[in-house]
Amino acid sequence: MTLTTPPTLDSDVPPRQRESSARSYPRRLPVTLVWGRGAMVRDSGGLEYIDCLAGAGALALGHHHPAVDEAIRDILDRGAPLSTLDLPTPVRDRFIEELFRVLPPGLRDGRILFCGPTGADAVEAAVKLARTVTGRSGLLAFGGAYHGMTQGTLALTGRRSAKEPLGPLLPDVHHLPFPTSYRSPFGAQPRSEPHGGGGRSGTAAGGAASGMAGRLVEWALGDDLSGIAAPAAAVAEPVQGEGGVHPMPAMFAATLRSATRQAGTFLIADEVQTGLGRTGALWASEAIGLDPDILVLSKAIGGGLPLAVIIHKAVLDGWQPGAHAGTFRGSTLALAAGAATIREVVRAGLAERADTLGRRFMEDLRTVAAGDPRIGQVRGRGLMVGVELVDPESPAADGVPVADGSLAAAVQRQMLQHGVIVEVGGGRDAVVRFLPPLTVTEGQLDRVVSAFGSALASVRAGSS
Ligand SMILES: Cc1ncc(COP(=O)(O)O)c(C=O)c1O
Repeated sequence: MTLTTPPTLDSDVPPRQRESSARSYPRRLPVTLVWGRGAMVRDSGGLEYIDCLAGAGALALGHHHPAVDEAIRDILDRGAPLSTLDLPTPVRDRFIEELFRVLPPGLRDGRILFCGPTGADAVEAAVKLARTVTGRSGLLAFGGAYHGMTQGTLALTGRRSAKEPLGPLLPDVHHLPFPTSYRSPFGAQPRSEPHGGGGRSGTAAGGAASGMAGRLVEWALGDDLSGIAAPAAAVAEPVQGEGGVHPMPAMFAATLRSATRQAGTFLIADEVQTGLGRTGALWASEAIGLDPDILVLSKAIGGGLPLAVIIHKAVLDGWQPGAHAGTFRGSTLALAAGAATIREVVRAGLAERADTLGRRFMEDLRTVAAGDPRIGQVRGRGLMVGVELVDPESPAADGVPVADGSLAAAVQRQMLQHGVIVEVGGGRDAVVRFLPPLTVTEGQLDRVVSAFGSALASVRAGSS
């Protein structure tokens, strides 16, 4: 049959109603964004917001940073090829040079693999590599983890509700408790404080959980009776993000590193969200001494454009050519934007700045909400911050009240009214999450704190 006229679309259906019901953010953030600069975005009605979502942490330099815009414009002006798979280009070479210059010392003589441009694909690649090199299939992951939405990375992820509709995922994955300082599977934490700690030592709040979680790792990997055959890899986030902003204590990192090394199990640090300065250090894993065998990076390293890589120690370079492939492993625009972002984060000392600003920001959040029993804990590292909200009237297990997701949703809605975009996450989605660009100004953070305080107050007053 030959079509003489194109088929007509039902013109009454607005384009966005054609999107799948899996669409998620607009349900909680009903805005149509038309402009962005730095940490600010504007909607189609002319209202401006401070963007503490920042592409889920992908926009380390915010919207349209001049260095990134210039790098993109340069590619367009020079007519460089836009998509080159893994063929060499000067832009790709420059990206590799910029990244290797700043990697943790343990990986500086490692190898880089460009993956399909999502964090999930890079985690898949890391797992495939560890399985190939060790000849083992097992994987160790942690409760509360988030590693992506493919069927392999979902198997590693903690959130059960995302897996339960799907049936069997990647087999031979074992989850152990992550050492959280507030709501711990080990019960009450002797030194946990309602308003939490952001320190790196692991001896602050959560020290006991850290010790117990570490012992479980040692047992799982070292005891013949643990029931877990020696795994190919352990996969962990140095600060859990989607799981509710839980920093990994340095004490636990040391145990995880030594236990995996003893078991011949590779250690994969998923720094998709934490990488490139977000947590107040260039690499969150380096700051806690994790020394991974494989580092997984995406989000910020593409300067807001899609890019994902793994970097692994040279001894793991045992793959056949083409063992992990994908069409979009050579996006020139992303490589140029990424190289410019890495350079700028380092040049402007944005990691150190994130540390300073993050500490002050968390203190200010604690102050604005001081005495409010609905604040469970304020925690985070650098500019990766979360506030867990609780229902103080609920029966407290081990002294910790039930997490209150509807309160967090109401605060998120109210903050939008006050001109701030935030995300929620964690158990019951009760953690209000702040991931502003690393270039956010102190004045903008002050406004975020005040919007948070006003949102909490108005929810109490019943106006949500
Ligand atoms: C730690 C971590 N790993 C992996 C992913 C998955 O990345 P992507 O959404 O690009 O697949 C995310 C996304 O938020 C993440 O935070």
